[in-house]
Amino acid sequence: MSAKSATLPPEILDSVIHGDCREILPALPPCTVDLIFADPPYNLQLHKDLWRPNLTCVDSVYDPWDRFSSFAEYDRFTREWLLACRRVLKDTGTLWVIGSYHNIYRVGSILQDLGYWILNDVVWIKSNPTPNFLGTRLCNAHEILIWAARSRKAARYTFHYRSLKASNDDLQMRSDWYLPICTGAERLKSAGEKAHTTQKPEALLHRIIRACSNPGDVVLDPFFGTGTTGAVAKRLGRRWIGIECDETYVRMARARIEQVVPLPIPAPMLPPPLDAPRRRIPFGMLLEYGLIAPGTLLRLGHTGHVAIVMDDGTIACNGHRGSIHRVGSACLNKPVFNGWKHWYYQDPQTGEYFPLETLREMMRAMCDTPPGLAETVR
Ligand SMILES: C[S@@+](CC[C@H](N)C(=O)[O-])C[C@H]1O[C@@H](n2cnc3c(N)ncnc32)[C@H](O)[C@@H]1O
Repeated sequence: MSAKSATLPPEILDSVIHGDCREILPALPPCTVDLIFADPPYNLQLHKDLWRPNLTCVDSVYDPWDRFSSFAEYDRFTREWLLACRRVLKDTGTLWVIGSYHNIYRVGSILQDLGYWILNDVVWIKSNPTPNFLGTRLCNAHEILIWAARSRKAARYTFHYRSLKASNDDLQMRSDWYLPICTGAERLKSAGEKAHTTQKPEALLHRIIRACSNPGDVVLDPFFGTGTTGAVAKRLGRRWIGIECDETYVRMARARIEQVVPLPIPAPMLPPPLDAPRRRIPFGMLLEYGLIAPGTLLRLGHTGHVAIVMDDGTIACNGHRGSIHRVGSACLNKPVFNGWKHWYYQDPQTGEYFPLETLREMMRAMCDTPPGLAETVR
C-alpha cells in the first residue's frame, strides 16, 4: 500500500527546480505526481572524440553529467532516482524512461527490483539517425523506452487506449514508433551550435503525455535538460515540474517554456467518452437478467438462418451449438463473426427486429445506473 496522497505546494507547479533530483524528489510530498518522463544520463562512456571522414568532430555526449566511474556507480545513481520517483508517483501514475543499449538494460533490471511493473517497452526508431562514422558497428538507429506502473497491483493507471488508436487511423498503437530526431527550428541553439546534446523531439513527449495523462494532471521530469517535457505538458494543458542540475539548462528551459502557448482545452482535448473502458457483457448475462428468454428465436440478418436461445446461454442453429459468435461463424463459414451485431431478436411489443447489441446496451445501462434510477433505464 502506498503512502496517503498529499498535495503539491502550488509554487513548485509549472516550475523548473535547480538541483539534483535525488535530493529534490525526497522533499516533495508522496503520491502526488500523475506521470513521470525520465531521460537520465546514458553513461555512454565516451573517452575520446569521434571524427568524421571529413575530419569534423562528431557532436556526441561528452558532458560531465554523463560520466560515471563504473557500472556500479551508475547503478547506485539509477537506484536512487528511481526509488525517489516511485515515492512521488500516484498509484494511478506511470513512469516512462528512455535510454539506449548503454544503460536501458541496467535501468530495466533496477526498475523491477524496486517493485515497478513494466507495462511495455517501446522502440523509438529514428527516421534520421546519426550514421556510424567509423564503420565498425551498426548504425545505432533507435532508443528504447520503458513504460512502467508503480507496482504490479497498480492496475488502474491512466492510459487512453481508444484515443491513441483513433489517432492512429483506428489501428492499435504499436510499440515501434517511427519519429525523426529533434532537428530544425525545434532544436535549441547556443552560439550557432546545439544547445544540448540530447534534446528529445516534442512529438515523442506529445504521444506519451497525451496517452498517459489528463488535462490538469502533474507531469514530472527529473532530468529536464532543455525542458521538452515541460514545453509539451504546458501546451497540452498539464501541470509540470522539471528538475535539472545544470543552471544553464535551467535558464534555457525556463525561457523556452515561457514562449509556449497552451492549446485551448475545449471538449475535443478532453479524453473522449469512448476512453471509458466499456463494460464487458457476456451473452449469458442477458438471460440471467431476463432481457432475453430461453426459446427466443434469433435471425441471422437476411440469410434465412434462425437460431434458438438455449437456457445455458448458448444458441443452436443448423446442428451447431455454442456462443452467439461461434454459431454465426459456423453457419456462414466465416472465421470471424460478431454475434452481437448480426443476430437479430424480435421486440415482442413492436414486432420490429433489433441486433442483440441493443440488449447489450440496455444491460450496460442497467449496470452503470446508480440505484434508484434503475427503473427509468428499463
Ligand atoms: C539526457 S539529458 C535530458 C534531455 C531532455 N530530455 C531534453 O529534451 O532536453 C539529461 C539531463 O539531466 C541532467 N542531470 C544529470 N544528472 C542529474 C541529476 N542528478 N539531477 C538533475 N538533473 C540531472 C543533465 O544536466 C541533462 O541536462
